[in-house]
Amino acid sequence: MLAIIGGSGLTQLASLEVARRQVVRTPYGEPSGTLSFGRIGSQDVVFLARHGHGHTIPPHRVNYRANLWALVNGAGATEIISVASVGAIRADLAPGTLVVPHQIIDTTWGRPATFFDGGEAAVVHVDFTVPYDSSLRERLLCAGDQAGLRLAGRAVYAATQGPRLETAAEIDRLERDGADIVGMTGMPEAALARELATPYAALCVVANWAAGRGDSTVSIQLDRIEPVLQTAMGQVRTLIGDFCAADG
Ligand code: HPA
Repeated sequence: MLAIIGGSGLTQLASLEVARRQVVRTPYGEPSGTLSFGRIGSQDVVFLARHGHGHTIPPHRVNYRANLWALVNGAGATEIISVASVGAIRADLAPGTLVVPHQIIDTTWGRPATFFDGGEAAVVHVDFTVPYDSSLRERLLCAGDQAGLRLAGRAVYAATQGPRLETAAEIDRLERDGADIVGMTGMPEAALARELATPYAALCVVANWAAGRGDSTVSIQLDRIEPVLQTAMGQVRTLIGDFCAADG
């Protein structure tokens, strides 16, 4: 079963015919909300809104462990597509672009970030050289092609702590480090999926130029971001429809 974690701008999936909703309890506390089960085409899908149904949970307070545990061990998800909005650092990734990143730089802190937290269990260091699942990324890029959408297929995702946006100097530093896009929710989500040995890929929607880039040299106006997100999330829905059709 495919799990989709929806971020800002994607709190529900219109194409998902919801058959049932389920509250899942986990050893790590409450997930962001109820899980919605249904089908897209002939593919079984479980959907979770990362920030809660009313978009009330900020990035640093998302219970990533509970979300991942609920999807994989509660609902039986075998692969995960994470949809998230990001800011663009790289000049060719204008707002509205869809990106399937291939690497991560993590600058988040203070978030419970592992299922292997010591105590009784053995110490485990999962391999994270390639943080996203390559074949899931390829299938997403193929679905994009099918849908006639232009997707950027390689980008380094920098995860920042939020909830504030970055300073222009922080974005300069992230760029020097090799980052192409910046978001607040990509970690520890991706690492937790790896700890659960579940293929995971991100489908990012560029909502705005990162601080100091493009027209964001002075400030980032969130109200101007909304229409860009709406249009791009429409494309995300189309892409996910094609992804499920190719799969089913
Ligand atoms: N920075 C961090 N996270 C984001 C941004 C940004 O500019 N836009 C959307 N999510």
